[in-house]
Amino acid sequence: MTEPETSLDPADDRGWDELRHLGHLMVDEMLEFLRTARERPVWRPVPAEVRKRLSGAAPRNPTPAAKVYEEFKRDVLPYPTGNIHPRFWGWVIGTGTPLAMLADMLASGMNPQVAEFDDSSAVVENQVIGWLVELLGLPAGTHGLLVSGGSMANLVGLAVARNARAGFDVRERGLQNGAGGEGAAPRLSVYASTETHSSVRKAVELLGLGHDALRAIPIAADYTIDVAALREQLAADKAAGWRPICIVGNAGTVNTGATDDLGALAALSREAGAWFHVDGAFGALAALVPALRPLVSGLEQADSLAFDLHKWLYMPYEVGCTLVRDQTAHRATFNVTPAYLASFDRGIAAGGFPFAERGVQLSRGFRALKVWMSFKTHGVDAFAQLIHQNVRQAHYLAGLVTKHPRLELLAPAPLNVVCFRFVVPRADDATLNALNKEILLRIQESGVAIPSQTMLNGKFAIRVAITNHRSRREDFDLLVRAVVETGTALRSD
Ligand SMILES: Cc1ncc(COP(=O)(O)O)c(C=O)c1O
Repeated sequence: MTEPETSLDPADDRGWDELRHLGHLMVDEMLEFLRTARERPVWRPVPAEVRKRLSGAAPRNPTPAAKVYEEFKRDVLPYPTGNIHPRFWGWVIGTGTPLAMLADMLASGMNPQVAEFDDSSAVVENQVIGWLVELLGLPAGTHGLLVSGGSMANLVGLAVARNARAGFDVRERGLQNGAGGEGAAPRLSVYASTETHSSVRKAVELLGLGHDALRAIPIAADYTIDVAALREQLAADKAAGWRPICIVGNAGTVNTGATDDLGALAALSREAGAWFHVDGAFGALAALVPALRPLVSGLEQADSLAFDLHKWLYMPYEVGCTLVRDQTAHRATFNVTPAYLASFDRGIAAGGFPFAERGVQLSRGFRALKVWMSFKTHGVDAFAQLIHQNVRQAHYLAGLVTKHPRLELLAPAPLNVVCFRFVVPRADDATLNALNKEILLRIQESGVAIPSQTMLNGKFAIRVAITNHRSRREDFDLLVRAVVETGTALRSD
């Protein structure tokens, strides 16, 4: 007797109706969850009994979807990271939007594989990339790829940089045979300020260049790269036989939102024969706002630009982007076409966009749909307005800090990041560091707000990075009150 054939679809019309009903409920309840985000604490830890329930063995047998959904509502939904909340400003984490959530559902339903096929998802991604090129002011002909986030975007950009500027065929010979060693090609070096995000270091290491090939250039008082120091390091390295292959500029550093002098870096890159990569994870998006564009000018000269749409375009995770000016160099880094991936002039593999030849992934999801639907629905100007609003909020918060006798601004706040601390007369840095750490943790644990932290010149900073379209001015008033009250309760002197 043959086994009956099954599938994961509902078994009959009744099953489809039940699932449809459940789906409607999920949409209703999730929208309500987002509508009421402000009414809940920003964050709370996962309780021990929930952790226990979430640690069982793999479920071999079925459970009705409605019951699993109830479990989700009991054990999963109440304990999110909290970045959907108006007072989440930790690290650089975007908020998401209700519309983009629905778009993600549609993308999952269509479930295309956006590698290189002639289907609508590829055409949509191509259009989204074209929009981003236009909005960020890169030259027509620049192309790119949607990726998982800024880290992957940096890896892709730096991979192209390495292969394009190594001076030998990295793909054929590999770094072991190409660079280093007696009589071999020079060692390859990459330049970036000490404020550069850790993902650049990760990329340099993953690309086989080694951490010592990443020359950490000191910064000026405003946390931007010291261009004179970079020039000196380039000259010294060249004299010592290194080949500078890439300069990395920051458009919005993770710590303070500083932007390097990108025009100067572009000129130095040209002079040195190096690739110019810009990590604009969030800062690049300031280019959407005419009034902020001068802050990131020079960005448009990048050979490759990495940025995130899940940060300052408020898209739900995950979506980042790499744009590369030289299509040939981009493709030459990643294209591999075995027989099973060959395309013909007809059929499904004809006429698509070869996204698989622009990055690491072969199988890729339909990240572009949420961006496409969001840009169309809200209009790009709405995003520009929100980015500007976040910058104004950062300036407002910096103003509150500066005015308050118990608060100290620890770095300039040119963009959307504000670093500050609570101060006590005559206390040294070690005391203030411990105190501010305790203030930060108490505020996080209270669920009132989620800022995060960094260290600036040996000082522990409470750090607020605003990539949140739900925040209002009053939220920053509340944060300042909470910091001052908590600090005062801990130290009344
Ligand atoms: C400046 C900068 N670059 C790169 C990244 C890495 O991006 P992702 O977390 O999307 O991988 C971040 C993340 O905060 C960042 O702020």
